Amino acid sequence: MRLLVTGAAGFIGSTFLRVALEARPDDELVVLDKLTYAGRRENLAGIEDRIEFVHGAIEDRELVHKTMAGCQAVVNFAAESHVDRSIADQDVFARAHVIGTSVLLDAARDHGVTRYLQVSTDEVYGSIEEGSFTETSPLNPSSPYSATKAGGDLLVSAHAHTYGLEAVICRGSNNYGPRQYPEKLIPLCVLNALAGDSLPVYGDGRQVRNWLYVEDFARAIHLVLQEGASGEVYNVGGPDEVENIEVVKRIVELTGAGERLIEYVRDRPGHDRRYSLSSGKVRALGWEPLTHFAAGLERTVDWYRDNEWWWSPIRSGEYREYYERQYGRSLTG
Ligand code: NAD
Ligand code: TYD
Repeated sequence: MRLLVTGAAGFIGSTFLRVALEARPDDELVVLDKLTYAGRRENLAGIEDRIEFVHGAIEDRELVHKTMAGCQAVVNFAAESHVDRSIADQDVFARAHVIGTSVLLDAARDHGVTRYLQVSTDEVYGSIEEGSFTETSPLNPSSPYSATKAGGDLLVSAHAHTYGLEAVICRGSNNYGPRQYPEKLIPLCVLNALAGDSLPVYGDGRQVRNWLYVEDFARAIHLVLQEGASGEVYNVGGPDEVENIEVVKRIVELTGAGERLIEYVRDRPGHDRRYSLSSGKVRALGWEPLTHFAAGLERTVDWYRDNEWWWSPIRSGEYREYYERQYGRSLTG
């Protein structure tokens, strides 16, 4: 199989490439990635010679057609992935998630692609106080990030319905693990704790996220790509729900930093209180999460401790300026 994987220089896509190469070493993998601040060639270290890399955006119709020629399947990871950035500037989110998805779907139809998988998020369902979202829960996104992701999902369903495109959607809960850009809660706090910088907790810190180790999500996506029923949505939720303040306290323990680094800061506008997914449908295909939060977080902290070569250029570049804009203070070092 020749597979086009978009956005695979990012956190989850680069993990998916490793899972896919391990499971089906003879598949040909073509990566199309715009290399935004979050897309990094370093994420492909060790597998560069096993993939074909094309630099460009999924909104670029001509390039997408050229790159998709000869591919039987498409997995779309390409996205702007950070909620806080979407609150500051949503245009690039709409372009990537809505226009980009539309271009990919048109091309998939033209090239007779037999399997299209859209990587999406639990955030399209909005916040839930009790219980868990199923695949039939209504979409009720709260942020520009989740609203534009929902727009992409609806286009995928429309293409499956109208044109019979063999499309599936995988909605994952919050991922964590190696190679996640440090704007997200876990790597941000790990790197700040290691550097002695403060750990910013939004609002009261009692918001709940349903943490999913990145390899577990990548395995679910690979399984749904092979076994998922066309036109269907599959929720992929992590095994543990944890309050943010608890996550930050565990990072303090694992890094040996002091709790005095924890700082409550202004809440995120429109902040979703709790996410929770029910994953019975993907479990019925044979998937289960293998990594619980305690073990996964320890592994993640170890990875960041051991891979300064990966994060030190990030902490001295674009991220530094972003951090100052977002948090109104500078990083040390
Ligand atoms: P990421 O920000 O680490 O990576 C995104 C990648 O997409 C980068 O390599 C970037 O260069 C590329 N990209 C961005 N815009 C592009 C465009 N217009 N054309 C081509 N490439 C483009 O994100 P991630 O955390 O790896 O997320 C991957 C996917 O998984 C996204 O679709 C996201 O919505 C979804 N998702 C993420 C999480 C999470 O917790 N991170 C959870 C569920 C679903
Ligand atoms: P984040 O990693 O941005 O993922 P998402 O917004 O997709 O859930 O945030 C995870 C949780 O942590 C969310 O409730 C917001 C909170 N948070 C903080 O409290 N402080 C921070 O500095 C960041 C980035 C997030």
